[in-house]
Amino acid sequence: MEEKLARKRRVLLVPAPAQGHITPMIQLATILHLKGFSITIAQTKFNYFNPSNNLSDFQFVTIPENLPESDLKNLGPGRFMIKLAKECCFSFEKWLGLFLLQQQSINEEIACVIYDEFMYFVEAAVKEYKLPNVILSTTSATSFVCRFVMCKLYAKDGLAPLKEGGGREEELVPELYPIRYKDLPTSAFAPVDCSVELFKKTCYTGTASSMIINTVRCLEISSLEWLQQELEIPVYPIGPLHMVASVPPTSLLEENESCIGWLNKRKPSSVIYISLGSMSLMEIKEVFEMASGLVSSNQHFLWVIRPESIRDSKFSNDEELLRKMVTSDRGYIVKWAPQKQVLAHSAVGAFWSHCGWNSTLESLSEGVPMICRPFTTDQKGNARYLECVWKVGIQVEGELERGAVERAVKRLMVDEEGHEMKVRALSLKEKLKVSVSGEGSSHKSLDDFIRTL
Ligand code: UDX
Repeated sequence: MEEKLARKRRVLLVPAPAQGHITPMIQLATILHLKGFSITIAQTKFNYFNPSNNLSDFQFVTIPENLPESDLKNLGPGRFMIKLAKECCFSFEKWLGLFLLQQQSINEEIACVIYDEFMYFVEAAVKEYKLPNVILSTTSATSFVCRFVMCKLYAKDGLAPLKEGGGREEELVPELYPIRYKDLPTSAFAPVDCSVELFKKTCYTGTASSMIINTVRCLEISSLEWLQQELEIPVYPIGPLHMVASVPPTSLLEENESCIGWLNKRKPSSVIYISLGSMSLMEIKEVFEMASGLVSSNQHFLWVIRPESIRDSKFSNDEELLRKMVTSDRGYIVKWAPQKQVLAHSAVGAFWSHCGWNSTLESLSEGVPMICRPFTTDQKGNARYLECVWKVGIQVEGELERGAVERAVKRLMVDEEGHEMKVRALSLKEKLKVSVSGEGSSHKSLDDFIRTL
């Protein structure tokens, strides 16, 4: 009995190898560490998050696999995740066996294994060792529901309703208001059947005892209820995770802090921040249309242009031209920004975003209204919710041209409509604060989850 009490309890967490998935997993790990658990993070060598001196209490280990570095780029994220799962299925199980032996030898016990919904191969391995396991969904509840619905639609009618050009793009999907067929989380990187193959796996909960989800009841109550019914395991909405615990930077790219100095010189709510996350790509033509529209909107803007985010390889020749166009007193370009700090800055009045789920939560938690330009998968549904449900965003659809950019920026930064969105965004910010505090829904959900460990 005494020996049992003396044993330390460790949580093993397995993030998917992408910025938007690593960050929430580290945030969750930090929360569990604060609750007294020891932490091991198992990562692939792809997009390996190097914690340097931060998070020195965490153990970081590498999952053995031999995929070539180029696979992620060549296959695109969806196909890559399917290949990674096939590759890791047995090697992870073998590695886990050795890891458990080590833990036993130092008298530690694994309280549970938490894996990203896209690292579904973990479930098969932990089942072998009868370890408690929990899924972390780093996307919205609505996105999870959409994936379910896509699998059902596919089983009933095949690819027809899901394919681009099938004629139903503008129709609302039954019982999923305001999601249209074109807002379903199909990928810009892979054909629909590949997405469906992946979603079937991510919707399978297997032996998982519960699912943690980085969302908040007040944002997605109906999708959460839908999920709770469909999944038959407890679902714990405990987000926004970044509001629950503060975490050192988790960026895979170096954050350029100089933009904060630039923001310090701007008036309150006078700057539009532009960032399209870690995966979106733009055509060179779109970049110049965007630049023209921004310049003629007469607003200040801080623009993140990630290396390799422009499809055209000739971009390096044009970069100087672009910088000349925008880098006046009005514009500032960086390769990667400290985004949470930027969104919390009083000078930032709006966020032009691809609507990745982390960016969406980060913007909502600072009361910053958004211009929504989704690129792929869940971003489309998030944009739709921002515009039609929470009413704190404007979606720019169709071909990107300078007039549309200028109009969208002015609607949000200058017009009365933008002011009303700001008021709604600030009210949501307060609701999110309440959710993570003492009696709030996320706080209670987290306590409920911890009691299960
Ligand atoms: C991906 C998917 O695209 C997204 O739709 C899904 O919800 C999660 O995985 P990503 O495209 O990178 O993520 O977008 P997002 O979820 O917004 O995550 C990006 C993260 O990078 C955010 O936490 C953001 O704060 C951070 N970031 C982005 C920076 O720190 N600096 C930047 O300059 C840009």
